[in-house]
Amino acid sequence: MERDRVAVVANEPVGPYRLLRLKRGGLEPGTPGQFFMLEAPGRLLPRAFSLCLATPNELGFLFEPVGRGTRALAALDAGETIHVAGPLGNGFDLAVEQPLLVGGGIGVAPLPYLSELLGSPPALLGFRTEHHAEAADLVPNAEVVLEPTLVTEALPEDPGDVLACGPEAMLDALEALAPGAQLAREAPMACGYGACYGCVVERDGTYVRLCVDGPVLRGGGTHGSPTGSLLPAAPPRILDGAPAGQSPAPPATVDLRAADGAR
Ligand code: FES
Repeated sequence: MERDRVAVVANEPVGPYRLLRLKRGGLEPGTPGQFFMLEAPGRLLPRAFSLCLATPNELGFLFEPVGRGTRALAALDAGETIHVAGPLGNGFDLAVEQPLLVGGGIGVAPLPYLSELLGSPPALLGFRTEHHAEAADLVPNAEVVLEPTLVTEALPEDPGDVLACGPEAMLDALEALAPGAQLAREAPMACGYGACYGCVVERDGTYVRLCVDGPVLRGGGTHGSPTGSLLPAAPPRILDGAPAGQSPAPPATVDLRAADGAR
């Protein structure tokens, strides 16, 4: 993991999303599905984003401006600089024989980089509207479905090795249909390296920190690559007000994430 202050190359609309292209500086792109912590100007906490695109000179992040942090990032102009740290967490295991990439909404974000490293395998993407589906142009070899059709309804009978990112409900449905699927999950992240317990989720009766044990988890609760360590079954008590393991995580005693805006 490196930390660097890098310049904005471009900040482009992709449907309702933004593609923030940053100079690469001293940062390595890491494994698809890993994430970076991006400084959100004017906000206390950085925001976590998986890498969307990597070139020898740039790193690209696709996000939806839906909160104070993401709106601040959407307002960045070329030439402005922000701190970026990463790559962090565990990405997808790329040793797959018959990959099928599956994405829902902004969950498409890590798939362009993943597709590049896997040689442009088939992809199945679901979006709310045609406008959102403009992001599908970033993923080669993609079939697109629009609501009310769900990606799970378009899944082939033998989906092969599913690597997916998207809403929780989509990932849960995929987990039931394709056991062993690699699923990139999301939770609020304040630190990104295992210290704050803001990203704890429950997996098969065990509590894991998504930032160090994920974000990519295998259906059935085992991990992507490389394998991280599991927390003990007892829930950590740093969070108050509700049992740990809810996703999004419940309010903490001092809930920095809520105070700073979820996204
Ligand atoms: Fe702080 Fe995971 S984001 S422990």
